[in-house]
Amino acid sequence: MKQALTLPRLKAMKSQNKPIAMLTAYDYPSAMLSEEAGVDIILVGDSLGNVVLGYDTTVPVTLDDMVYHTRAVVRGAPGTMVVTDMPFATYRLGPEATLRNAARIMQEGGAHAVKLEGGAELTDEIRLLTSAGIPVLGHIGLTPQSVHQIGGYRVQGKSNEEAEKLLQDAKALEQAGAFGVVLELVTEELAAAVTHSIGIPTIGIGAGRGCDGQVLVYHDLLRYGSGIRDKKMVKSYANIGDTIRSAITEYVDEVKTKAFPEEKHSFPLDQSSVQSLSSKLYGGEGK
Ligand code: KIV
Repeated sequence: MKQALTLPRLKAMKSQNKPIAMLTAYDYPSAMLSEEAGVDIILVGDSLGNVVLGYDTTVPVTLDDMVYHTRAVVRGAPGTMVVTDMPFATYRLGPEATLRNAARIMQEGGAHAVKLEGGAELTDEIRLLTSAGIPVLGHIGLTPQSVHQIGGYRVQGKSNEEAEKLLQDAKALEQAGAFGVVLELVTEELAAAVTHSIGIPTIGIGAGRGCDGQVLVYHDLLRYGSGIRDKKMVKSYANIGDTIRSAITEYVDEVKTKAFPEEKHSFPLDQSSVQSLSSKLYGGEGK
């Protein structure tokens, strides 16, 4: 069986300039296919709120949701590093709750690490978790859990002030013990500058070509779903949504026209049983 990536090997990938491929997955088949395809890290992202559960934002996603989906992912990809998002507010309720919630993701879910959205304000939480043996991946730039505060999904770090804050946040996360940092929707130049300024890997989404790795949402990569919107930062490598919809349409049509099932999909009785069944049902008339 494939061996999951370790944190020392992940760090070595940065120093050896080997790009890191991260992808989200939310269930057994998506995890299994991602592992078979050679993904380095699977992220059980709280984006599952949008792409799996049908919410408008990630805010309603619960800890139970994350634990449940992590368990399925770990069963599907036993040889891959799995990182799980701590959902909205679950790491902002004081040290005891933060530790208890992260421990559930590791113990009940089986994740190897957790991801938290936020910058320098999270250094206490990151120190607490890493000192308890819970590896932490940071996430700065656009942080979707704060969408109501930010006021929309817009590119971050465009002004000098914002750029300086992002750089300081990345350094603070590294100093607090995070093993890496996701940079979401950040200008390419700023993401490259952050990548050069810290010793831990950066993993970008909508952050250009200068990061140590990239992450995409499974459903975006595959165009899996109805109404997956075009986003500039996404490259879709397939159009599974169209394939699924047309397969289901054909199935419905064949059921309605009685083209399915055919004889080859059915299980015949042997001749003697047919006779005894028909004599039971029709008194011997149904030959
Ligand atoms: O929830 C998620 O899928 C994420 C990625 C977009 C980085 O946080």
